[in-house]
Amino acid sequence: MTEPVPGPKGLPFVGNMFDLVDEEAPLRALEHLAELYGPIYKLQRKGTRVLVVSSIAMAEELFDETRFRKMPPSALAKDSEKPAGLFTAASDDPDWGEAHRILVPAFGSMAIEAMYPEMQDIGNQLVLKWARMGPNTPISVTDDFTRLTLDTIALCAMDFRFNSFYTEQMHPFVNAMVGMLTESGNRMARPAIVTSMMRKTNAKFNEDQEYMFNISQELVRHRRENPTKKRDLLNAMINGTDPNSGSTMRDDLIIANIITFLIAGHETTSGLLSFAFLNMLQNPQAYYAAQREVDEVIGRDPVTVDKLSKLEYLNGVLRETLRLTPTAPIISKQLVAGCTGSRATLGNGKYAVEPTDKLMVLIGAMQRDPSVYGEDANEFRPERMMGESFKNLPSAAWKPFGNGVRACIGRAFAWQEALMVTAMLLQNFDFQLDDPSYKLRIKQTLTIKPANLKMRATIRHKME
Ligand code: HEM
Repeated sequence: MTEPVPGPKGLPFVGNMFDLVDEEAPLRALEHLAELYGPIYKLQRKGTRVLVVSSIAMAEELFDETRFRKMPPSALAKDSEKPAGLFTAASDDPDWGEAHRILVPAFGSMAIEAMYPEMQDIGNQLVLKWARMGPNTPISVTDDFTRLTLDTIALCAMDFRFNSFYTEQMHPFVNAMVGMLTESGNRMARPAIVTSMMRKTNAKFNEDQEYMFNISQELVRHRRENPTKKRDLLNAMINGTDPNSGSTMRDDLIIANIITFLIAGHETTSGLLSFAFLNMLQNPQAYYAAQREVDEVIGRDPVTVDKLSKLEYLNGVLRETLRLTPTAPIISKQLVAGCTGSRATLGNGKYAVEPTDKLMVLIGAMQRDPSVYGEDANEFRPERMMGESFKNLPSAAWKPFGNGVRACIGRAFAWQEALMVTAMLLQNFDFQLDDPSYKLRIKQTLTIKPANLKMRATIRHKME
């Protein structure tokens, strides 16, 4: 016999809309409800029953790909007939399969290593900017990390320079992307019927998507007319063939994936870097240990790719940061079609799951599960994410990059970039918080970041 899933009572028409209101971020409201109702609770949203999971044991069941699969985010759904990129496509969409098979090798470790000089180029631009700002000017941390990650993915993916560190105004592509992402976030909170009536907002949403499509189309056309030997993602998509069918990717599918990489490839890494610096600055022992490691392993030499894996403590800092504040904080699942009986349950048979249910894992709350991480699960302790203690974690205990076949394809890219930049910054600067009493507040769009984080940077050594 199964039991009813607990959860707050909803209201007619709006369901649990008001339970998700939080002055800081909707994510906080979801986490708060998990504290009240436990590791699984139900909500009614837009006519759908949503089951929200936050324990490692129950997430482990949800990560069984024979029973549950990714539910693509509806807020990012396009209003046109264009194909979906890797992130938004359904797992049985043939376009997803083709793009996945062609792109997996392009995101492999050797291909990512080959992108290192370009990552370094943009990293150096950030170091120069902060050096010129001097020790008395507060740095808007997330803004500059967003410039860095956006410029890096655009350069590595398609040899395009946004030059965000050299221009006052962001490139129009960036404005269109921000507009589109903001509206996507608003759509998640708003009833669909209200959205359908917002004609001006919807027209702008479609206009922003059209603009991004046209610019990307131009980049593909330009590359086809001016072929290069560069090992970037654009060439991988233009020249790669699907090992199953032998076919190459259509232009509209290439374009959908260019846009996907620009979106998925920058905010998440920018948030990771911002939270990592906040964590280090609020935990001085960790900060000094990280800087000492950079001094010992790299000294004043250039930060080269072969040194990155030797930065064990820094790896721990980034992993622990993504444990406490995974920057893609929610992943959504649904029951695999045809899954019935005990396979359509959670909690070892305790709760029935319906084919129409949307299942959400709160990754951050799950990664703070005290049954695995102990009583100090909320504390920042990079040591627990190093060496054997990291290796010995249960498989579902650390999932900031998602799970299984739909896990993050850009993980190695993000890791190389984040490690390199953190090492370069600790090597060159001493940091302090602009406001030593800064208290974390989350800013949530599709991803999360620390709101209004400012720090100051003092050069450690005279630059040559
Ligand atoms: C998928 C997190 C960086 C491209 C995902 C998923 C997560 C994630 C959790 C799975 C989402 C789901 O199951 O619904 C992160 C984090 C990053 C990061 C935390 C940085 C710290 C990147 C980068 C790129 C990228 C740098 C591209 C260069 C993608 C794509 C997918 C994805 C294309 C969809 C893969 C598929 O379904 O086939 N990411 N990501 N991500 N990520 Fe990332």
